[in-house]
Amino acid sequence: MEDTSFAIHPGKESAVNEERYYDIGNVLVEDLGDRHVSFVCEKGFVQVLFTSEKIVRIVMNPNQQPLLDDSFVVENTIDPANVTIENQVDTITMKTSNIEVKITKNPLRIQVQDVNGNTIVSESDYGMVIGNQGSVACYKDASPDEYYYGFGEKSGFLNKQGEKLEMWNSDVYAPHNPETDPLYQSIPFFMTLRNGSAHGIYLDNTYRSSFDMRTEADGNYIFQAAGGQLDYYVCAGPTPKEVIEQYTSLTGRMPIPPKWAIGYHQSRYSYESAEEVKELVRTFREKDIPLDAVHLDIHYMDGYRVFTFNQNRFPDPEKLIREIGELGVKAVPIVDPGVKADAAYQTYYDGVTNDLFCKYIEGDVFFGDVWPGKSAFPDFLNPKTRNWWGKKHEFYTAMGIEGIWNDMNEPAVFNETKTMDEKVVHRGENSNRLHKEVHNVYGNLMAEATYDGMKDLMDGKRPFLLTRAGFSGIQKYAAVWTGDNRSFWEHLEMAIPMCLNLGVSGVPFSGADVGGFAHDSNGELLARWTQFGAFTPYFRNHSAIGFARQEPWSFGEKYEEIVRDYIQLRYKWMPHLYTLFQESSQNGVPVMRPMFMEYPDDPETYTISDQFLIGEKVLVAPILRPGVTDRMVYLPEGTWYDYWTGEMFEGDKRIITHAPLEKLPIFIKRGAILPEGEAVTSSSQSSDKIKIHLYPEEARSHYTWYDDDGSTFAYEEGKYALYLIDLQLENSQVNVQFNCTHAGFDSTWKSVEFKLHGVNETDRVVINGNEVDHRQPIVLKRSHLK
Ligand code: GLC
Repeated sequence: MEDTSFAIHPGKESAVNEERYYDIGNVLVEDLGDRHVSFVCEKGFVQVLFTSEKIVRIVMNPNQQPLLDDSFVVENTIDPANVTIENQVDTITMKTSNIEVKITKNPLRIQVQDVNGNTIVSESDYGMVIGNQGSVACYKDASPDEYYYGFGEKSGFLNKQGEKLEMWNSDVYAPHNPETDPLYQSIPFFMTLRNGSAHGIYLDNTYRSSFDMRTEADGNYIFQAAGGQLDYYVCAGPTPKEVIEQYTSLTGRMPIPPKWAIGYHQSRYSYESAEEVKELVRTFREKDIPLDAVHLDIHYMDGYRVFTFNQNRFPDPEKLIREIGELGVKAVPIVDPGVKADAAYQTYYDGVTNDLFCKYIEGDVFFGDVWPGKSAFPDFLNPKTRNWWGKKHEFYTAMGIEGIWNDMNEPAVFNETKTMDEKVVHRGENSNRLHKEVHNVYGNLMAEATYDGMKDLMDGKRPFLLTRAGFSGIQKYAAVWTGDNRSFWEHLEMAIPMCLNLGVSGVPFSGADVGGFAHDSNGELLARWTQFGAFTPYFRNHSAIGFARQEPWSFGEKYEEIVRDYIQLRYKWMPHLYTLFQESSQNGVPVMRPMFMEYPDDPETYTISDQFLIGEKVLVAPILRPGVTDRMVYLPEGTWYDYWTGEMFEGDKRIITHAPLEKLPIFIKRGAILPEGEAVTSSSQSSDKIKIHLYPEEARSHYTWYDDDGSTFAYEEGKYALYLIDLQLENSQVNVQFNCTHAGFDSTWKSVEFKLHGVNETDRVVINGNEVDHRQPIVLKRSHLK
């Protein structure tokens, strides 16, 4: 019925709006602490407190005093040092060095401003509301000149003004359209950009929630959750990067991935035998196409039983892992949560006998159908289960496996609701929770169990985890791929804003299946998609059973050559990308950035969905349609160079760039400094020679290039290297300073070559105080570095 016009039957309206909502009402009792205030209002209990000088937390509980320590995600709830509170008859003002919160009492409304009196968020006619069926919601004033970003993994374009977005982790194989929502990840966080100033709101609530950003009609936007407290944080910014830094100070940051995880991955549902995997890896090597990982999809298992290998197809997995390992390639097996109900299968047996599966309150295990048929689902809220599951990965680590792929962890179930029964009870350390509360964090809890388990087993090496489902904070454990896309040009186009919004949402390590998962790909699409993929943080080609194969050589030599070139380009860019990953692990700022992130004062950038930045000064503008060889690119203010030809452009305008099939438009901004490695065949090889591209300008610019062993956690003990490069063009003289500022790691490169761009023949070039002839290669040996 829902597929017919019945879906929009007028009689359905009333059913949708059954819940009645009440305003929080007037303040009845107030309680002023040193650094917080609490209220009893007509319809609920409220507390306002700070977690930093720039983050205010507002919690409303309809039934009791707010619970402050009840989050699945936020760990850091430390109050800042200084809050001043002033109480007047009708208002209370709370101030830190950066924000001022004005609370009016009758009825309760909350305004957040910066210290100059500029509004960050405000409430007028409506504020917090409570539904009679357990929902909580909040209205904020909105204006048409606001732009909204983030919300995790969403289809459609970058700016979400005018959209309604839902948070409920869902397995969606049906084509991802602009209105396909929700998908696999739920990240109830968004950033608002208004006249160049940004702030963020994180709704720390794991129930099904929604964000109604259709603002223009009534001047409000609304966020709402189906249960629990209305617990949200306002991150005051004011720059987009600061908002992400603030948001990730609450929800956590990505650890630096192992270098191999940032290389090229090849996948297929499925490479079905050890022979096929070996043949695949050999072909990559014969064809000189770099490769770091092969994914083993569900066919590697015995009847889709996790923690098993099919003995006929993979008779000696350890030998396979060793053999491909010798060629610099890792295997990444898929591990789904569904455990086949089979008393003769150890994992199931252990799960049942140790009481580790999700159950109904009456004690019956919840069963659902997934790939193995009838299956039970580990209760990852239970620390015993997480511990058990983590340790089980010894099955993989003992054979040398260092990466795991978690899929179907929404959890997906082949039934009407597509998931577990909301009434299932999860048993936590301190309390039990219904699935309707835990659903959205099931993927996070599985990722935590897997990542921590792998880390314990890997003797100081960094694990890699890829996940389909997740919630805020997933970045602490896993990279995210955007699920079952299709080999459509539209899906290539959509992958850009999807990854950008994931980055805004604190998840810097993301990518879409290159070439498209379902549907038949083709040479041109694969070539264009690989060009884009080479610049997405996560870079994996994956395709589905029953559709055209899409390994790099699948569509003939012409395309193979382009695909090879761009996979090689990825490896050349590795030193810069790795540096950006390291920075992101420190401050949460993504590797792949929307244009507005670097140009928040330029409204032209606010809705750009088809080009992006890698770090600050590299602009990538992929071709997104068949047969197209020219496209418009917006270059923000400044001077830009075509990466391939060196042609110079003055920015603050749009240009048309010519991009025949073998060309991905890339522009480098003047002032850029970019380390480039060699086109190695996997990240297990290191580059002997590093080229440092310099694009000097009058203003001084600098770059800190990060390097470490790429595989262990030794960097946490200071075992890394930092090279500071300082650059300036002054009176026809280019001055370069290149110094190692932290020598905790003995880098493996042997020499650097400085490559100057945009300088005149007659300009003088001085490196570390010595004049050099820049018409010759300028090479500096590492041994000569002080
Ligand atoms: C799901 C995943 C896909 C995988 C398939 C089989 O559809 O999203 O990536 O190949 O399951 O495991």
